[in-house]
Amino acid sequence: MHRLLGRYPGYNPRVDPSVSNVFATAVYRFAHLAIQPMLTRLDANYREHPQFPSVSLSQSFFAPWRIVFEGGVDPLIRGLISRPAKLNTQDHMMVDALRERLFQFVRQLALDLGSLNMQRGRDHGLPGYNAWRRFCGLSAPRNQAELAQVMNNTELAQKLLDLYGTPENIDVWLGGVSEPFVRGGRVGPLFACLIANQFKDIRQGDRFWYENPGVFTKRQRLALSRVTLSRVICDNTGITTPGRSKAAQRGRGRKRGSLESEVKTELWRSSCCRFTHFQ
Ligand code: HEM
Repeated sequence: MHRLLGRYPGYNPRVDPSVSNVFATAVYRFAHLAIQPMLTRLDANYREHPQFPSVSLSQSFFAPWRIVFEGGVDPLIRGLISRPAKLNTQDHMMVDALRERLFQFVRQLALDLGSLNMQRGRDHGLPGYNAWRRFCGLSAPRNQAELAQVMNNTELAQKLLDLYGTPENIDVWLGGVSEPFVRGGRVGPLFACLIANQFKDIRQGDRFWYENPGVFTKRQRLALSRVTLSRVICDNTGITTPGRSKAAQRGRGRKRGSLESEVKTELWRSSCCRFTHFQ
């Protein structure tokens, strides 16, 4: 993503920072394929919570009472930071808790998130898979052999063509999440392009973007650039130790929640009125 985003080029008032139709309706829904079917709940030692053990996702829909009466958010956040997200693979994309049992806990008839995503794309009149591939300067496969090459999977290409007839008609959400990942990423080339485009626009078209000169002082920018996710978790939960995951280990060393916060709030003390002068 760093490579696709490039360096911040500065504010451009001609760039529209709003979220695009394709981004909300298809692209960023890629993460529906990274959801695990269980909500892992761990105690302070990162072991299964003795009182409130892990609970299935389908038993958790619309159940905020679980947070209130079953140990708060810390056990859930420990589960999220120390267990991997589901890996999207071409032969196992969405878990049944979302595909067969969405919201069944509170509704008689369960929904199917994959269908909702594709139906919403059609509601919104999104062009098909190949149109977006062309938009991104990628190849537009015309037949089974070319689609198999893009997907690196002959069987999957055949199944898609059995359903859609032509790659032009593939729903962009399904086509996008079917692509093999870019190196080091969790989406294929089409969604990597569309995510990077959206993030660039959000960054460049926002005059309050934190790197835009005049928004913050140099020292404030430096302080903000040092904030880590582990710091945010420590500052906002009762969690004080990182567990064993690689992501959590990266924050180790500056991680104990009891340490002084890394964001030096005194840097903001005299700058309360900067925004009102900023054009
Ligand atoms: C258990 C986890 C999740 C559930 C049950 C869930 C469910 C849903 C549902 C029901 C919709 C509306 C579908 C429709 O009728 O069109 C939706 C929309 C969406 N979801 Fe998820 N989702 C989950 C996680 C995520 C994650 C992790 C992401 C991204 C990081 C994500 C991104 C989106 C986006 C971008 C939309 C469209 C929002 C909009 O247009 O306003 N979802 N999700």
